[in-house]
Amino acid sequence: MTESLDDLIKQAEEKFAAAPDVASLENEKAKFLGKNGAVTSLLKGLASLPVEEKKAVGQRINQIKREIEALLTARRERFAEEQLAQRLAAEKIDVTLPGRGLNRGGLHPVIQSTLRIEGIFRSIGFDVADGPEIETDWYNFTSLNNPLNHPARSMQDTFYIDHQDEAGLPLMLRTHTSPMQVRYARQHKPPIKVIAPGRTYRVDSDATHSPMFHQVEGLWIDENISFAELKGVYTKFLQAFFETDDIQLRFRSSFFPFTEPSAEIDMMFNSGPMKGQWLEISGAGQVHPNVVRNFGLDPEKYMGFAFGSGIERLTMLRYGVNDLRLFYEGDLRFLEQFNR
Ligand code: PHE
Repeated sequence: MTESLDDLIKQAEEKFAAAPDVASLENEKAKFLGKNGAVTSLLKGLASLPVEEKKAVGQRINQIKREIEALLTARRERFAEEQLAQRLAAEKIDVTLPGRGLNRGGLHPVIQSTLRIEGIFRSIGFDVADGPEIETDWYNFTSLNNPLNHPARSMQDTFYIDHQDEAGLPLMLRTHTSPMQVRYARQHKPPIKVIAPGRTYRVDSDATHSPMFHQVEGLWIDENISFAELKGVYTKFLQAFFETDDIQLRFRSSFFPFTEPSAEIDMMFNSGPMKGQWLEISGAGQVHPNVVRNFGLDPEKYMGFAFGSGIERLTMLRYGVNDLRLFYEGDLRFLEQFNR
């Protein structure tokens, strides 16, 4: 009897150890401790034993039962530990890997140039003004000495809008920032010293022209502002913008309805990768008396200069970009280079 009882413990130990998973372990448990299990039937068998043996054998069986239960608990714990170890291995993360990080936004190169230009002109006493991109015929053309049916209007291929102004003329996307000369001057008293950067639109598209582009208008009106001031201001501006004195300027005679005399401003780098070639960067001139009149001022008393420069053009020269379209394709590989 004692022997077969010890044997039972060994059997249980082996079976429990051999169980490959929790389900089979619970099956094995039933064979020993279940309703029809070996230990249970031993306990049932107690009834047929003589009274004097009952107590000792009963104690022994209960002890066996406790030992088998202890074996079972130990095995269950092993399974739990194994499972935990497996999960830890499977869900392991490498905390030493670098984080994904957040991309930092940055300013578009054309906006960066605009801010540079504003800073430079503010430092020499210019105000910075902003105006509408949808313009009336009067502000965009007529007030600038460019009347209806004048051939000079065809210098700028215009996007018209399907709405009319009070004069019954179609509205348009402004073809230049020059209407801001008139808008600003009509609301301020001389001396008038302002730049007006912003978006402009023309029916035009190739490597150096985009249907939407940026200009900065400059205007200085007072009692005695001449072409000499234009040359001085614009030279200082370019030297500050390109951070070099090693440039030459050329004022090439030209035509605009709203200036007289008129000039194209060309510049040339004396050193660096683009040295030695003349590049056109701006229109300019002395404001035409008719335009000064439209400012609400007496052209006998007030005079001054205006210029209108392409901001994309200035940005291309500053960074050596050779295709204007790169600014509008939204390719981050291009744009990121301006935000390091
Ligand atoms: N508005 C002209 C253009 O867009 C440039 C300009 C501005 C010329 C001011 C003279 C004076 O071509």
